[in-house]
Amino acid sequence: MECSWKTVLLLVCASLGVQYTAIRSLQDLFPGPCPDSGQCQGRLGKDHRWKFSCDDNSVPTEHSVASARRKHILLFAQTRSGSSFTGQLFNQHPEIFYVFEPLYHVQQTFTNSSSRLRRALDGRALLGAYRDLLLNLYTCDLTFLENYIRPEPQDHMTASFFRRSSSQALCSPPVCQEGDVEIRGGQPDEIWCPKKCGTLNLTLASIACQTRSHVAIKTVRIPLIGDLRTLSEDPRLDLRIVHLVRDPRAILASRMTAFADQFRAWKIWNATDRQPRYVDLTQITKTCRDMEYSVANSLQRPAWLKGRYLLVRYEDLALNPEDKVKEIYRFLGLDIDNRVLTWISQNTNSTTPSSSEWNYKYSTSRNSKATAHSWRLRLGFDIVKTVQSLCNTTFALLGYKQVQSEAELRDMKNSLVEPRTF
Ligand SMILES: *[C@@H]1O[C@H](CO)[C@@H](O)[C@H](O)[C@H]1NC(C)=O
Ligand SMILES: *[C@@H]1O[C@H](CO)[C@@H](O)[C@H](O)[C@H]1NC(C)=O
Ligand SMILES: *[C@@H]1O[C@H](CO)[C@@H](O)[C@H](O)[C@H]1NC(C)=O
Ligand SMILES: *[C@@H]1O[C@H](CO)[C@@H](O)[C@H](O)[C@H]1NC(C)=O
Ligand SMILES: *[C@@H]1O[C@H](CO)[C@@H](O)[C@H](O)[C@H]1NC(C)=O
Repeated sequence: MECSWKTVLLLVCASLGVQYTAIRSLQDLFPGPCPDSGQCQGRLGKDHRWKFSCDDNSVPTEHSVASARRKHILLFAQTRSGSSFTGQLFNQHPEIFYVFEPLYHVQQTFTNSSSRLRRALDGRALLGAYRDLLLNLYTCDLTFLENYIRPEPQDHMTASFFRRSSSQALCSPPVCQEGDVEIRGGQPDEIWCPKKCGTLNLTLASIACQTRSHVAIKTVRIPLIGDLRTLSEDPRLDLRIVHLVRDPRAILASRMTAFADQFRAWKIWNATDRQPRYVDLTQITKTCRDMEYSVANSLQRPAWLKGRYLLVRYEDLALNPEDKVKEIYRFLGLDIDNRVLTWISQNTNSTTPSSSEWNYKYSTSRNSKATAHSWRLRLGFDIVKTVQSLCNTTFALLGYKQVQSEAELRDMKNSLVEPRTF
């Protein structure tokens, strides 16, 4: 009896010790946010990493008066839902510091960590790291991001910033002396900016962020709107969530084209109109569930989203970009810049010659009215039927019409988007 009690005690202690070590090492790996210097100073010296991520901010942080009106914009979307295009509506604004999917670096770090560490980290830890990074970026502290960039930046310099070319602020003065207005309209590939601007100086990037009035971040990596609640309630932020949704059939068709390797089974299905046994339906099912859950949650108008949430269907934006972008800027409480409108007229208009230069996987340039619906000519009817039954409540909620026959699917005169105001 005595002996077994000792054993139990020993086991409890050992397990506490293991947990403590795990928590310590997690904290070392993923230090929390340090949004203001006052909070950070208390921790200096005690922990080198804190010092590293907080102290080394050569930019004065005391323009809180100017930043009182600062908007923190989140483009909340899913992969291939038109978010690159929509992100341009912020990227083109000279007063907005726009970052394209910075959470990529966090996800890479997590998926690359050793399996022991990965077991210790559940989805909650990943979400926490996402939120911490967003908070730090919104306060223009890019040094926090350095913990996640691989190879690790040296002297705050990195050549591995994910999709840097998609961020106008990171490819123009003061960050890049070479980049200039001529490239504002966009470039045909992803490497032009590092090629032209060299290694990215993250200290300069933080300065560029602080000198702009607002910050916008695009992400497809946060699954549910509820995951944003702590950010929305954070008194240091004035968060504005633009929730972009799109017809799941269109999302699927776009993924099949962009990620051909992952979608081989679907391609066979598409070509034969017969579903291979091994086709994986879980991803598109989850896409629909997440979309539906988030929209339903938001439409109940919880207090924490009041004035902070706008639902945008990509199809409405594509059909009438000028009106929709004005609505978005009204919601943000910001003046729309002419450069945004110019970009729209150049890039939603297939007759403009410059738009044909954009021709890569993440191209945002297209005749938006036509391409928003081109999936109807590119997706086999059997796939369409399956998606409709997997996602039928999502369709009903968002006003996407289901088709009952292939003829109905291919008849482009018949719109599958019901007029809705949310
Ligand atoms: C992940 O690990 C692989 C293999 O070790 C390596 O090639 C890759 O660069 C790593 N990626 C990141 C982001 O650390
Ligand atoms: C990066 O920019 C900062 C701020 O202008 C500057 O002090 C620093 O020397 C730059 N770093 C490098 C390696 O050029
Ligand atoms: C599209 O381009 C044509 C030719 O440049 C121009 O006449 C037309 O006004 C443009 N349409 C829009 C919506 O900008
Ligand atoms: C599906 O197949 C049709 C021809 O049967 C093809 O035109 C289309 O590009 C395919 N769609 C995708 C998304 O691969
Ligand atoms: C969705 O499908 C289920 C089962 O087929 C059906 O009971 C339900 O009424 C459908 N809902 C909508 C909104 O179409």
